[in-house]
Amino acid sequence: MPQIPGNAVGARFTGWGRALPPKVLTNHDLEGMFETSDQWIRERTGIERRHVGGTTAGLSIESGGLALGMAGVDPLDIDALVLSTSTPDRTVPATSATVQHGLGLKCGAFDVNAACSGFVYATVVAHGLIAMGARKVLLIGTDTLSRITDWDDRNTAILFADGSGAAVLEATDGPGQLLGWDIDSDGSAEELLFCEVGGTIHMDGKEVFRRAVRIMVDSAKKSMAIAGVTADDIALVVPHQANIRIISAACDRLGVPMERAAVCIHETGNTSSASIPLALFEAADQGRLSAGDLVLLVGFGAGMTAASVIIRWGV
Ligand code: UT7
Repeated sequence: MPQIPGNAVGARFTGWGRALPPKVLTNHDLEGMFETSDQWIRERTGIERRHVGGTTAGLSIESGGLALGMAGVDPLDIDALVLSTSTPDRTVPATSATVQHGLGLKCGAFDVNAACSGFVYATVVAHGLIAMGARKVLLIGTDTLSRITDWDDRNTAILFADGSGAAVLEATDGPGQLLGWDIDSDGSAEELLFCEVGGTIHMDGKEVFRRAVRIMVDSAKKSMAIAGVTADDIALVVPHQANIRIISAACDRLGVPMERAAVCIHETGNTSSASIPLALFEAADQGRLSAGDLVLLVGFGAGMTAASVIIRWGV
């Protein structure tokens, strides 16, 4: 991926929000649905519970409204809405249309679908819009995977869940937060993880696992090279929350200790587009980030896609 031109208009996150549906499904609840155990799910995935319910638009409006409120931005001042989702409420129109109306925005709105890498793809797109003259962009990652999960399939039903994370991205006078970025896709791996229109998710879990670690690490290394930083410089890695063993293996290969990873999978399960913003903004809300810290966001997902960005927090 190219270097970011030195004269590009910079941008930074000025507000964020998180939304999880109130209904909680624990591992023990799943024990009553198919043959599995709380212990197996914890040990093999790191997941203890997950939130399910709601619609993609409803969760997006909730997290987006919180982000606008925190940033203190009038909805009428937003220049574009970018919604990352693989679970739109309708095939047409894009769910971003519903969200735009629900939040009272008057601007262009569109969905991005890059599966679980989607929020990082959308982050790159949003920075690009600012580089081209937009001043304020609302960026949301939301998925309601429970609606496309086969609840009789223990291979997938233990993993997937619902949630949303949002951020307001505003133009700044300085260079901004984005130091490096990478987006990748390998369509030859499509059959490993897919969902037909109107169907449910099919996944070759073992092969997805094997490739996930490699493609996350490759993407992260590309972004770090563009940013001119090393793993030692990264204060916080925010990986896609798919499986604690994938997160741990990726951190290991990157040479980043797990203490420097943002992890919320035990509470959320795999929420696809929402997983990275949920983990990032939970870490921010917990005071784990200081101005100037380098943060690596890195995702992978169906496609198979991978994407990463290096951002300098709070500049
Ligand atoms: O956003 C990206 C989405 N996807 C992913 O990231 C998924 C990546 N893959 C994974 O996370 C893992 O492959 C899974 C969690 C899906 C499965 O874990 P695994 O360690 O690869 O298990 P496995 O498929 O190798 O199965 C091991 C054993 C098998 O039994 P035997 O053949 O050894 O007797 C399975 O039948 O565990 C059994 N098993 C289960 N047992 C209890 C598989 N699923 C379950 C289950 N509960 N839910």
